[in-house]
This record gives sequence, C-alpha cells and structure tokens, in this order.
Amino acid sequence: GDNAMYLAHRYEIEMEGACEASLACSTCHCYVHHDYVDKLPEPLEEEEDMLDLAAFLKENSRLGCQII
Ligand code: FES
Repeated sequence: GDNAMYLAHRYEIEMEGACEASLACSTCHCYVHHDYVDKLPEPLEEEEDMLDLAAFLKENSRLGCQII
C-alpha cells in the first residue's frame, strides 16, 4: 500500500547519502574505478572540501551523489 511505497522510497534516499546530494556530508564517499576516474568531470570545490573530511581518502575518492 501507500505506506510501504513511502518506506521503500525513504530507504532508497538514505542509501544515496545522508544529506541527499547537497554536499553537506561525506556518507556517500566512494572509490571510483581507475578506468573511470579520468572520465568524470572534475569535482566542485564544495565536493573537494567534503572529501577532505572523509575517512580513508584516496586519489580516486569521490562523493557518490555527485557522480550519478
Ligand atoms: Fe551528502 Fe553526497 S549525500 S554529500
């Protein structure tokens, strides 16, 4: 029913990241495969700033919500 749909939708959003892609968290931190890291647009300054706060930062770290 409506309630289950609502919950599933909520869950999906939470899987994407805590701040819903507004560059206010680093819960969507991920590592980009090396074949793709050069093909992505450069991160925004805001994304870089959040990545600086992320744990286990690597040269192929990105915020997942910004590259979907
Ligand atoms: Fe918060 Fe990506 S979901 S920065």
